Amino acid sequence: MFLKGEKVTLGPMEPEAWKSLALAHLDKDFDLLTSDDPFPKSAEDIARIYSKFSYPAGRIFQIFASIGEESSTRGIGMVALNDIDWKNRNAQGHISIWDKEARNKGFGNEAMKLMVDYGFNDLGLHRIYSIIIAGNDLVINTAKSVGFKIEAQMTGCFFVGGRYKNGVLVSIINPVK
Ligand SMILES: CC(C)(COP(=O)(O)OP(=O)(O)OC[C@H]1O[C@@H](n2cnc3c(N)ncnc32)[C@H](O)[C@@H]1OP(=O)(O)O)[C@@H](O)C(=O)NCCC(=O)NCCS
Repeated sequence: MFLKGEKVTLGPMEPEAWKSLALAHLDKDFDLLTSDDPFPKSAEDIARIYSKFSYPAGRIFQIFASIGEESSTRGIGMVALNDIDWKNRNAQGHISIWDKEARNKGFGNEAMKLMVDYGFNDLGLHRIYSIIIAGNDLVINTAKSVGFKIEAQMTGCFFVGGRYKNGVLVSIINPVK
């Protein structure tokens, strides 16, 4: 595996991951937490949409963890940096745990920490930010638990579930100048 934590490891996206993510997006509850268009997507569509997270403009990792009785690791979600702006050293961070059983177990927090460390220490990024749909307290708290700070409320920037919702801009700055 590429990046190793205590609870999770991050590795390359495997073909099965696109299928898991496509299935997750068919669940309305999951889809409402993301800002994607509400059209059913195949694994191939998902891979195309997420290609913007791929090298060289982005980095995408599959999150692997042991769940319940399983001693082997399996893919539970993805974490990514995209829109890497190499001049200003800014990038947008994303996280998604598609396996419902794997949520609220600290995996998201650790996967995000590994991604931030990689962005700061391996890529030399200065700032990582995310725009989260207001009301998604779980992801806002996950970001805060990693050290992200709320920068601003963005009025009406998402149209989800038939309503305009505010965005919450969060960011973390590399302490090394
Ligand atoms: C949001 C998500 C990435 C969080 O990962 P996770 O592994 O479930 O979260 P963790 O267990 O690491 O918990 C992270 C923090 O959120 C807090 N938290 C847990 N459950 C919560 C809840 N229901 N509401 C608010 N905060 C909650 C935890 O206490 C923890 O904070 P702490 O470290 O200060 O105690 C994951 O649940 C997920 O992908 N959910 C579905 C889709 C989604 O919302 N994706 C994000 C789209 S931008």
